[in-house]
Amino acid sequence: MRLGTPLSPSATRVMLLGAGELGKEVIIALQRLGVEVIAVDRYANAPGHQVAHRAYVTDMSDSSALRALIETEKPLLVVPEIEAIATEVLLEIEAAGLAEVIPTARAANLTMNREGIRRLAAETLGLPTSPYVFADSLSEMTDAANKLGYPVIVKPVMSSSGKGQSRIDHASQLQAAWDDAASGGRINKGRVIVEGVIDFDYEITLLTVRAIGSNDMIETHFCEPIGHVQVKGDYVESWQPQSMSVAARARAQEIAAAVTGNLGGRGIFGVELFVKGDTVWFSEVSPRPHDTGMVTMATQRQNEFELHARAILGLPVDVSLREPGASAVIYGGMDATGIAFNGVADALRIPGVDLRLFGKPQAFPRRRMGVALSSGPDTDEARRRAKAASATVKPVKA
Ligand SMILES: Nc1ncnc2c1ncn2[C@@H]1O[C@H](COP(=O)(O)OP(=O)(O)OP(=O)(O)O)[C@@H](O)[C@H]1O
Ligand SMILES: [Mg+2]
Repeated sequence: MRLGTPLSPSATRVMLLGAGELGKEVIIALQRLGVEVIAVDRYANAPGHQVAHRAYVTDMSDSSALRALIETEKPLLVVPEIEAIATEVLLEIEAAGLAEVIPTARAANLTMNREGIRRLAAETLGLPTSPYVFADSLSEMTDAANKLGYPVIVKPVMSSSGKGQSRIDHASQLQAAWDDAASGGRINKGRVIVEGVIDFDYEITLLTVRAIGSNDMIETHFCEPIGHVQVKGDYVESWQPQSMSVAARARAQEIAAAVTGNLGGRGIFGVELFVKGDTVWFSEVSPRPHDTGMVTMATQRQNEFELHARAILGLPVDVSLREPGASAVIYGGMDATGIAFNGVADALRIPGVDLRLFGKPQAFPRRRMGVALSSGPDTDEARRRAKAASATVKPVKA
């Protein structure tokens, strides 16, 4: 792999489809290697727009707009950072050899829909998952819940960050869950997955990197497992390493290797797994950096964004842990534009603490506006520090 000079004929051009807080960090990692970066998002001044060479505001679910943009910019690599993309365009672009899609167009296509990835994992690869049924109407959803037995979790097939997701303990909640799923889903409204609830001890993200090794073959690397807490399907806190039994750790790596091996390509994957004792279930996978993996900015020699940048460029990676750490999300807490943050200096006075403020132009009560990171002697102490820091940073109206 040869890297060029940005803004010159030799430039190595990479296009990020999605330029949120995760994309922003990938862009910074690419910038450090002199890559020319084009950031695309659906709104102006997205976090990644602010650190890229060029920024575009485009509806990436609009196939013709997306195709036109890729044809104009002619990037070497197209790197999806979000799920809501017209992935048929990525399949065409890849097939025509116009650009390489990270990790593969098929991976982006399969994982944007819960049905694609669930059927691949459970039915093709035979991996353990929660029991599930797909449903297209309230009555099908009712039958599914009766078949699986309560409680169940209902999710729109196309949604992320817990949007449109509900846990149903009793039949009286079905209608509300159906309505919520229909309004929370992205596209293809009205198709849901109904899942049985896994009674796990803890859940992890196993960051898995496919990168070119010294013999020019793809090698699979596993980061230390990341533990996390989710509230309403959205991550609020994560830490690394999550301790696991030897058997559970081996099984988790085996499952992650099977899924990422099938999806193929180069880059980092966030493999979400549920663990009870030595038993591990596959939940889902993102073929890109994972939100819970922001903790790696405090813990790893190369954080997940640097790992992704290196892997996609065909460069070697080092997934080793430097020290234990944690992350805690800072929410907007209000509806406002151009907010300010109080308490930043006090938060940074807590030992081992660092912050990322994403620079999002608009806040919502549950919008992630920043994250507190911390290292510590162990994950318990790191979690206390990260939570204390995130509670100290106070979004306010400017
Ligand atoms: N079948 C299940 N059994 C138990 N818990 C579940 C199940 N499905 C989801 N959850 C809980 O809900 C969380 C969010 O679910 P999931 O990851 O499927 O949704 P998501 O919208 O894709 O979330 P994100 O985009 O934040 O990863 C999980 O991390 C887990 O805590
Ligand atoms: Mg998830």
